[in-house]
Amino acid sequence: MTSSTPLSTNAHLLKWVEKMAGLCRPAAIHWVDGSQSEYDALCRQMVEAGTFIRLDQERWPGCHYARSDASDVARVEDRTFICSLSKAAAGPTNNWVNPFDMRKKLRGLFDGCMAGRTMYVLPFSMGPIGSPMSQIGVQLTDSPYVVVNMRIMTRIGLPVFAEIDRGDRRVVPCMHSVGRPLEPGQKDVPWPCNTEKYIVHFPETREIWSYGSGYGGNALLGKKCFGLRIASAIARDEGWLAEHMLILGVEDPHGEKTYVAAAFPSACGKTNFAMMVPPASFRDRGWKVWTVGDDIAWIRPDATGRLRAINPETGFFGVAPGTSNATNPNAMATLARNTIFTNVALTPDGGVWWEGMTDTPPDRLTDWQGNPWTPEIAKTTGVKAAHPNARFTAPAAQCPTIDPAWEDPAGVPLSAIVFGGRRATTMPLVYQAFNWTSGVYMGATMGSETTAAAAGAVGKVRRDPMAMLPFCGYHMGDYFHHWIGMQKHLSETPRVFHVNWFRKDENGKFLWPGFGENMRVLKWIVDRVRGRALAMETPIGWVPRYCDIDWTGLEFPPEAFDRLQQFDRAAWRAEIIGHEELFLDLHDRLPKEMIYERELLICRM
Ligand code: OXD
Ligand code: MN
Repeated sequence: MTSSTPLSTNAHLLKWVEKMAGLCRPAAIHWVDGSQSEYDALCRQMVEAGTFIRLDQERWPGCHYARSDASDVARVEDRTFICSLSKAAAGPTNNWVNPFDMRKKLRGLFDGCMAGRTMYVLPFSMGPIGSPMSQIGVQLTDSPYVVVNMRIMTRIGLPVFAEIDRGDRRVVPCMHSVGRPLEPGQKDVPWPCNTEKYIVHFPETREIWSYGSGYGGNALLGKKCFGLRIASAIARDEGWLAEHMLILGVEDPHGEKTYVAAAFPSACGKTNFAMMVPPASFRDRGWKVWTVGDDIAWIRPDATGRLRAINPETGFFGVAPGTSNATNPNAMATLARNTIFTNVALTPDGGVWWEGMTDTPPDRLTDWQGNPWTPEIAKTTGVKAAHPNARFTAPAAQCPTIDPAWEDPAGVPLSAIVFGGRRATTMPLVYQAFNWTSGVYMGATMGSETTAAAAGAVGKVRRDPMAMLPFCGYHMGDYFHHWIGMQKHLSETPRVFHVNWFRKDENGKFLWPGFGENMRVLKWIVDRVRGRALAMETPIGWVPRYCDIDWTGLEFPPEAFDRLQQFDRAAWRAEIIGHEELFLDLHDRLPKEMIYERELLICRM
């Protein structure tokens, strides 16, 4: 086994790397310094191996393209495990296996799993290096694709080793293998992976073991595995929140900024909302939206009892289909260079395309599986040019609306929390919770139609509390307790809202134009927070009347708004029965506040 020079002097780290190399038996070890030259060399190596295609550098400078194996295209929730010491601690919404049995299983899987490959020692910081709100991990991986993606998504390399070498930081060990050892002389495939997949978390010892997948949240372990599942468990122990939320700042015409965090399930428009371009009639008056993050928020009370939030990531791992200059010009500008595209379609002149990027597809596309693609072919086969969960990995710093404070080690002050889902019926465009506890109830009972971000059926309503169902590293009932308990540490609670951009009419047509027009809802939210907007009480919360929304520049008749906001008693009856189903599952650890809130809601109905 050959090794590059170790880049750390930390005895624990050196010993662990040696032990894991002994288990996985790679051909070589590469300590990742995080430099541009290292990144370029890894990209060149992947181009030679057939994993990467270098895009036309005139039009797509610094950009690469990868096609995954057709069996490795999304997070695998049914193969994701929370192996806490007791099953009860993981709760009924997580897959649990006894940690003793799981360790035995993993030892078998990882035994020799990196044969013929290089093991990369990849240190990463979630959050600005040195910030008291940050956390550090080291991922050992046999995937160079993971290394280059993690360089965009997190802070990696020498400065993180330096932080580890100071010796006072706990480091989360993250093991990752694509699970495809190579015999001597065996030719590799462009996207190695294994049909058997295990995405495993040990919350007590704060460890991650991921086997068999090279894709997204299964493999970029800083993101869902650390940033949400392990971090949520750390946050519960330390009195903060690790949430599946975007963070944005709204600047008003006086230059005053109000920061908002919003939890929407995967592929429900967090990236679009975080990078929203307000309508011209708002921009002209000085309204502006600034982006802090699009997927994860770590939120902590400061010394004065005010919640502050950081985005622990440095990149966007965004869903490509549907992203265009019309829907999200800021994302399009962000991904125009130094971006990795996975499972989109390729144009014959070395560019990329996906459904929704333009109205008419370019000629002679190659689809995400490498086959020729035309709209005619698609009509007969139903195959999309880009996989519905095709992604771009793009540096956050390239976003034209990135907030000047996005890397502030102290985070940004949070004034509002927004929950939302993809709901064709029942849920109004916007309503505000009465108080913190009813806001927690609102988040806890959130539902959404499933999307392509996870393997499985698409379009079924499932309860997805705080958009954290696939990401909470412990019992959901305890998680609700933790949310309610946060109030005790706060001098001021953020106001809590629920939005739904996806309500449809009886013909299946969206009732709300969405995208930039969401600014009208956001302005009402900000004005409520600032004590500048009125609202009307309903059984579910405070709602804006037509006259409370700023309609400048948009013809939107009051009747259309009434349909969007309509409180449908029969639908809410069914909705509350849906809440009860979730509560039955969680009954042994459900906070009594949730039961009282439900009773109050029923009484108000
Ligand atoms: C994501 C997801 O990739 O939620 O952000 O699936
Ligand atoms: Mn997400």
